[in-house]
Amino acid sequence: MEILYNILTATIISGSLSIILVIAEYFFANYGDCKITVNNKKEIVVKGGGNLLNALAENKIFIPSACGGRGSCGFCKVKALDGAGPVLPTEKPYLSASELKDSIRLSCQIKVRQDIKIHIPEELFNIKKFKAKIVEIIDYTYDIKGITFQLLEPNTVDFKAGQYMQLETPKYEKSKQVISRAYSISSIPDIKDSIQLIIRRVPDGICTTWVHDYMKLGDIVNLVGPFGDFYIRDTEADIIYVAGGSGKAPIKSMIEHFAKYQSTRKMTYFFGARTTKDLYLTEEFQEYEKTMPDFTYVPVLSAPSPDDGWTGKTGFIPPYFKDYIRDPLNTEAYLCGSPGMIAAVEKELINLGVAKDKIYFDSF
Ligand SMILES: Cc1cc2nc3c(=O)[nH]c(=O)nc-3n(C[C@H](O)[C@H](O)[C@H](O)COP(=O)(O)OP(=O)(O)OC[C@H]3O[C@@H](n4cnc5c(N)ncnc54)[C@H](O)[C@@H]3O)c2cc1C
Ligand code: FES
Repeated sequence: MEILYNILTATIISGSLSIILVIAEYFFANYGDCKITVNNKKEIVVKGGGNLLNALAENKIFIPSACGGRGSCGFCKVKALDGAGPVLPTEKPYLSASELKDSIRLSCQIKVRQDIKIHIPEELFNIKKFKAKIVEIIDYTYDIKGITFQLLEPNTVDFKAGQYMQLETPKYEKSKQVISRAYSISSIPDIKDSIQLIIRRVPDGICTTWVHDYMKLGDIVNLVGPFGDFYIRDTEADIIYVAGGSGKAPIKSMIEHFAKYQSTRKMTYFFGARTTKDLYLTEEFQEYEKTMPDFTYVPVLSAPSPDDGWTGKTGFIPPYFKDYIRDPLNTEAYLCGSPGMIAAVEKELINLGVAKDKIYFDSF
C-alpha cells in the first residue's frame, strides 16, 4: 500500500512539474534568434521556440509533411547534424535503426531552441508554395470529388505523373488552425497552369470536411509541392496498376499521360470498388482501351448488391493477376491504396515473379 502511495505521489509530482514546464515554456521561454544552417550552404535566422518544419516552411524550404506536423505520417525526415536535441518518443516509431544511427529526425518534432545544422535532399529546394483558385468541382461519386485548381502564383508547375501536393485548408469552424494534407495530382504533367486533385470524404476528417462541405468555386487556397517518389519510370516494361477509391488519382495522371502519347506499353489497371456506386470515370478509362493498343481496364467489385446488375469481375483482385501478367521479369507495378491492400497485392505479385524493387506504391 505504501509503495503504491509513493508511486502515485511521484507520478502526480512529475506530471505536475511537466505541465508547469510546458506552461512556463509557452509563456516565458525566450530562445532569441536561432540560426538554421541547411546543407552547409543556406543560413536562415528564425525566432526560437517553434518547430523546425514550420521554421523552414516560413523560409520557403518545404519538407514533405502529409499529416501537417502532427507526428503521424513520418514524412518530414531531415538529417540533423547539430543542435536538434534528443530523439523524442514520438519520433521513434517512424525511424529505423539505421536512420537513428544516421541522425535522421522528424522535423515537426524538433523544437528550435538553439542554432541547428541539418541536411536535406537537394531537390527539396525546388519545392514551391502555390496560390491557387478553385475553378471546377466535379462530384465523381457520393463521397469523391475532383477539384481543379488554377495556379495563380507561381502560375505553372512541373511535376511527374504520380506525385502529390499538400493542400492547405484554411481556418474554418471545425479547425482553428490552417492544416495541410497530401493529395496525389490526378491531372497530367503537360497541363502546367492548373492541377486536379481527387479527394474522398473521411468522416469527421478536418481537411476533407472542408473540401466536401465548405469549399466553393472561386476560393483561393495554398498548395505546396510537388513531392514524392511514386512516379512512372521511363522504361518499356509492362505495367500492372492497382488502386481503388481516391487512389485512382495518381494512376489517372499516369494513364492519361500514356494515352496522350499513345503508348504501346502493355498496361492493365485493376480498379477495386465495393459496389457500382463506387465506380467512376469508367467510360473515360474504357475509351483509353480504344486509343492505346495494349491497355486494359479491369474494374473489380468486392461486394456488389443484387440491384447492381453487375456482370463483371468480383471478389479480391490478386487472384486475377496471373491472367494478365505475360512476363513477370519485365513487369512493373504501381499500387495506391491502404497499407493492407498494398501488402496483399505486393505478396501476390512477388509470388508470380515480379521483382520487389519494381513494385512502387503510395499508401494512404
Ligand atoms: C502521399 C499521399 C497521397 C494522398 N493522396 C490522396 C488522394 O489523392 N486523395 C485522397 O482523398 N486522400 C489522399 N491522401 C490522404 C489524405 O492526405 C488525408 O489523410 C485524408 O484526406 C484525410 O484527411 P482529413 O484531414 O480529412 O482527416 P484527418 O482529420 O486527418 O483524420 C480524421 C480521422 O480519420 C482517420 N483517417 C485519416 N485518413 C483516413 C483514411 N484515408 N481512411 C479512413 N480514416 C482515415 C484519422 O486517423 C482520424 O481519426 C493521401 C495521403 C498521402 C500520404
Ligand atoms: S509532418 Fe507528419 S510526422 Fe512530421
